[in-house]
Amino acid sequence: MIDKKALNIALENNSLILVQKCLYARNLHLYRHSVLTAEIAWDIVVGTNDDFGFSSSQAYMAGMLHDVGKLFVQDRILDKRGSLNEREWEVMERHPAWGHEYVKGTIFESFGDVILHHHKLPDGSGYPKGLTPDVLDDRVRLIAAADRIAAFLDDRPYRRRVSNQALIYQEVRSVVETYFEKEKAEAIIGTVMEAVAMERWSAPHSDQFSGMAGGRP
Ligand SMILES: [Fe+2]
Ligand SMILES: [Fe+2]
Repeated sequence: MIDKKALNIALENNSLILVQKCLYARNLHLYRHSVLTAEIAWDIVVGTNDDFGFSSSQAYMAGMLHDVGKLFVQDRILDKRGSLNEREWEVMERHPAWGHEYVKGTIFESFGDVILHHHKLPDGSGYPKGLTPDVLDDRVRLIAAADRIAAFLDDRPYRRRVSNQALIYQEVRSVVETYFEKEKAEAIIGTVMEAVAMERWSAPHSDQFSGMAGGRP
């Protein structure tokens, strides 16, 4: 008899590796950022032992998938060193909707709402504009916070990564308090800062797929 649960886990793992390879082949920054977001989301669920409506592996998958819509954004926009102009922002702001569309009809469809809302803020601001879920659930908040922490911790096309612990602490606190109430926020901040101190996220596996296409720069 087929073990359906095991089959689903195998299918999810395989599909996630394919997504990772797509991200890697498409844009190295996008790949690194997605891996880092996934690792942060995973560590927060495991480290706080709190309920976010996600298992740790679901949090990892959602982190890996959150920016999958950026597969459709041109490199010249993704890698732009200066600030984006109005037209470029219009394109960039569509990536949550494109990602939502991308996972439709796949084994990852249940992450669609998280992908769609990961740039929305609890006060309704952010994008996609005009789309305001009544309440952002904890799954969305977890990925939104992990996304912003990942963006802060890694090199970006327009700036080097931040290594000053006091600055990191300030940013992590501000991001986490945007999405979570006091008790939960403190547990998350503690978990994140512990991982930062141990340099657990300092080197996203940039050479994981280096055999592809002769390796990336
Ligand atoms: Fe995003
Ligand atoms: Fe992101």
